[in-house]
Amino acid sequence: MFSYAQWVPWVSSFLGAVTGFCLYVYIKNRFIFGLPESPAKIVISLLTLLLLSGGLAIAGYLDGLAAWLIMIFGICIIGEALRIVRVRNLKIEDEESENRAGERAKWITTTELQVLRYRLPVAADWSRPLRIVHTSDWHFSPKLPHSYWQRVVETLAQAEADLLFLTGDFVTHARDARFISEYLSRELARLGTFAVLGNHDYWEQPDEIRSHLTSAGVTLLTNTSVLLDPLPGTPLLICGCDDPWGSESWQPPRAPYQCIKLCLSHTPDNIYRLSGWGADAVFSGHFHAGHVRFPFLGALLIPSAYGRRFVHGHFRVNQTHLYVSAGIGSVVPSQRILCPPDIMIIDLVPAHLTDDNIRVGEGIGREPVGDHR
Ligand SMILES: [Fe+2]
Repeated sequence: MFSYAQWVPWVSSFLGAVTGFCLYVYIKNRFIFGLPESPAKIVISLLTLLLLSGGLAIAGYLDGLAAWLIMIFGICIIGEALRIVRVRNLKIEDEESENRAGERAKWITTTELQVLRYRLPVAADWSRPLRIVHTSDWHFSPKLPHSYWQRVVETLAQAEADLLFLTGDFVTHARDARFISEYLSRELARLGTFAVLGNHDYWEQPDEIRSHLTSAGVTLLTNTSVLLDPLPGTPLLICGCDDPWGSESWQPPRAPYQCIKLCLSHTPDNIYRLSGWGADAVFSGHFHAGHVRFPFLGALLIPSAYGRRFVHGHFRVNQTHLYVSAGIGSVVPSQRILCPPDIMIIDLVPAHLTDDNIRVGEGIGREPVGDHR
């Protein structure tokens, strides 16, 4: 049997490995993910993991370093606690979801498409709500079956959108760009489909992807904006922000005195700048909701300067609402674990219609959804 004195180095070594892993997650999310895809990125990532986790495990085993490791581990725990508090302040748990049964029953959720519904009161004098359908990160690829892509498009068609927003990463490899025209050429929104590109699109062949989107009838908003008058009354300004990718950086567009300002941004990391501009709502993807989630821990690896702050769902930053989609497709690993793809349906409800007698979709021939404010 080990004596107490013999246990100490091993416990300390384990603590070192865990601490090293926490530091690795921090560095990977904030810095390594931002590097362009290349073999060097994989090497850097593995070396960082090995040096931090392995190095601190060895350090923990050595005499006299346990106290230092406990201190570093304590800082990690305090950091995590602060993160949880901050996310609680920003996150709004208001979605009404369909198909959650699949998420609960299965670990592998690659094609377990979820539909998440939201209802957002807006200061507009429209006579009815305006329906936005938002999807992201299609990552078109023949690895997922044709029946799945068809089901996604059919679900979009049934959502009866006024506006369809697609927030980037249409492909992982340029050779699959043909799928864009194949699946997205159908008219899926009454007032049009708008899109921005994602990092994978920029890392592949953005011009080819742009040309497939344009031929599918999608309006690209690369650091530009459009002013629409979708319903009599308040106009709608929709802009796209491609930062930090692309050759030019986003500049705040001029907006009429009174309008609803919406913005598409592949990464949620632009939220503070867009909120400062006065966006009413921002639509993003990029994180795949983590792609792989762990029981109790949730998603760990998120390519964001804010770590796991905006991983998925509905947030409010100052006066701006942020909707972060889990996306549709799959990358590496090719399976989503405990992390289903989703489509977000957001009804912008004029504030003067938000009494209990009004149901979203009423009066425009749509299936009403329940109130869940
Ligand atoms: Fe993506």
